[in-house]
Amino acid sequence: MEHGAPSGGERGRFVTFEGGDGVGKSTQVRLLAKKLTDLGLKVKITREPGGDEVGEKIRAVLKSSPGLDPLCEVLLLFAARRENFIRRVLPPLEEGRWVVCDRFYDSSLVYQGILKGISGEDIMLLKRLVMGDFEPDLTIVLDMAAETSAKRLSERNSSDEYDGMNIERHQQIRKGFQKIAEIFSFRAALVKADGSEAAVASRIWKILEKRLGSFLISSP
Ligand code: TYD
Repeated sequence: MEHGAPSGGERGRFVTFEGGDGVGKSTQVRLLAKKLTDLGLKVKITREPGGDEVGEKIRAVLKSSPGLDPLCEVLLLFAARRENFIRRVLPPLEEGRWVVCDRFYDSSLVYQGILKGISGEDIMLLKRLVMGDFEPDLTIVLDMAAETSAKRLSERNSSDEYDGMNIERHQQIRKGFQKIAEIFSFRAALVKADGSEAAVASRIWKILEKRLGSFLISSP
């Protein structure tokens, strides 16, 4: 079990969840964390934007500032990401815990990149500034028909800018994440997100077992 291990102990694994709004990420984050915990592994959940106190404040600013300049938006997101990374991601990983994160920098590539026109190059520049070469060990990209995610979202009746999206935007976001899964296939896997929560969880588990199965042994 040498893969990615720092000297002095086995590093934990970092799993991120990505996908459009309304695809059920948060539920699957919870279900996966529970399953890992039931296996005896130590697990932390975090999310972006947010995770820690400062990140949650930045999240509140983003959610309450419709029409924010896209560059300002991406800078705030990466500021929150840096806080999350150094406080909520790296320390538990170094202690051998698994960390499951609801969204990570792929979301910026889709929302601020594809949707708001910030270049992929600039986003990757910020990514490198914030976390260097660090990458998730596994990224689950939840994929679902735009009509279904849009319907689910409207049932939640959310009115903030981030959630109030039309079908075309859902379609664009879906395509963006499909592309992410393709470009980062070394770490990312596209998972069909329709069907019951249990069915989706089992699809995710199969992928995790295949890609990270050798790390599913809890330390004594
Ligand atoms: P999310 O937490 O998934 O939504 P919810 O509020 O329903 O739990 O994400 C909030 C919004 O933040 C979502 O619409 C996507 C957006 N977002 C970005 O635009 N860029 C990013 O880098 C991240 C992490 C999120």
